[in-house]
Order: sequence, then structure tokens, then C-alpha cells
Amino acid sequence: MVYTMKIKILKNYNEVINESYKVLSEYLTKKQDLVLGLATGETMIGLYSKMVDDHKKSGIDYSRIKTFNLDEYYGLQRNHAQSYYHYMNKHLFSKVNINEKNIVFPNTLSNVDASCERYNLALEENKIDLQILGIGSNGHIGFNEPKTSFKSKTRLVELDKTTRVDNSRFFNDLEEVPTHAITMGIENILSAKKIILIASGSEKSKAISKAIDGPVTELVPASILQRHPNVEVIIDIEAGKNLKGSMNYVK
Ligand code: F6R
Repeated sequence: MVYTMKIKILKNYNEVINESYKVLSEYLTKKQDLVLGLATGETMIGLYSKMVDDHKKSGIDYSRIKTFNLDEYYGLQRNHAQSYYHYMNKHLFSKVNINEKNIVFPNTLSNVDASCERYNLALEENKIDLQILGIGSNGHIGFNEPKTSFKSKTRLVELDKTTRVDNSRFFNDLEEVPTHAITMGIENILSAKKIILIASGSEKSKAISKAIDGPVTELVPASILQRHPNVEVIIDIEAGKNLKGSMNYVK
């Protein structure tokens, strides 16, 4: 079976966020019990800010929406300034009328195996309607680093050195960046009904070209998205500058 990804290459970050929110807001307005897969990181900040603005303006109702976050650093308390729970609370959860019991997050502080098992079960019971993804400069999605099995599920992983270096910009120094995280696996991500992959800036251009123009390989986790039937890639010119145009996508 051959699937083709839909690719939108836009002028800049703002346009990428506007377009991504256009796709997302259709889901938010049409399906009140939406199951939404969320990512963190710098790229997503603009999107959360748009969600909050629109909630204030148009009163989009989040009370029945259920969210699953892709990943969380291992060993950070939820109130740690760099935990992904803290990030989500700061940028989205505290600013919309989401019901706390509908927020599903990897718990990295309890028994890890039991907590991953619970997460996988929750994902089986709640099929994600729309998964939002960023991409690492090494091609990771979630914290599924290069060489991750495409059959992987939620589990404890060791972070790549490149990821720790990239993310050290949010910490005081590299030493402070956790070495491990819990992440949804590739198989979990692929079971989402629709996926949007968002990227901006030239630091992402190599990863984007490998993911889209390159072969599907576990060395580039995002390349597996070529095999998903409903993926939309929304990027800016800088992130797309190495794309050659391939059989794998339609512009
Ligand atoms: C984080 C996540 C990661 C990020 C990626 C890009 O929840 O899923 O895969 O999306 O590392 O991060 P930024 O946007 O900071 O470049």
C-alpha cells in the first residue's frame, strides 16, 4: 500500500502555526469529545497560544476533550520548571476549561513499568483522533530516538546526546538535562487517526528531508510517517529547504 503525505510549505513560523491551528480548530469545533495527542517543545508554544486566544474569543469548549501527552522527562516533579507537565499547565491547561481528569500524562515518578502499562492501556481504550507532532533535529518523534523499533510502545528511554544538547537551552547546563524520559512508542503514535507534523527553522531541515524524501528506516523515526494513511506536514521554507520533491508526498 502506498500512502502519500500532504505537505504544506509556508513562509514562516507564524503561517505554520496559523495553518496548524486551522486544522486543529476544525476538530475542536466538530468533535466535543475529541481525543487529542499533544507535544511540547518550542515549536508548539505558538499553537497553544492560539488555542488559548481562540478559547477566550470564541469560547471553544475543552470540558469533554481528552488529552494525551507524548512524553515526560524521567524523575522531574510535575512542578519542576522544565517538566513537560509544568509546560502544558503553563501554556494550555491552566488557561482553558479542560477537565483535569481528562489530562493523561506519563507518570515518571511511580513504578515505571506499571505506569507505562497503564498508559498503553489508556491509549488502547481511547483512540487518538488527532496527534500533533514536532520533530527533533535527529529525526525523533516524541522521545523515540534513532534506532527505536517501529513496534515500540510507551516505555522508559535513554535520551540521545543530541537531544540533551538541543534541549539544554531550556536548562542551566547540559548536566541538568535528564538522561531518561517516558515516551509513547512509535506504534502508539501510528495508531492515531490523523497526524500533523509541525516544524520551523533551518535546524530542522535535515531531519525533515530525511523523514520525507528518505527511505523508511528506524534510523530516522519520523520516516515511518510515510506509512501512515493520514499525515499532514506543515513546515516553513527554512525547514523545507532540503526537500527535493519525492513520490512520498503531494504539495
Ligand atoms: C516533545 C516532543 C519532541 C519535540 C521535538 C522538537 O514533547 O515530542 O519530539 O517535538 O524535540 O522540539 P522543539 O519544538 O523544541 O524543537
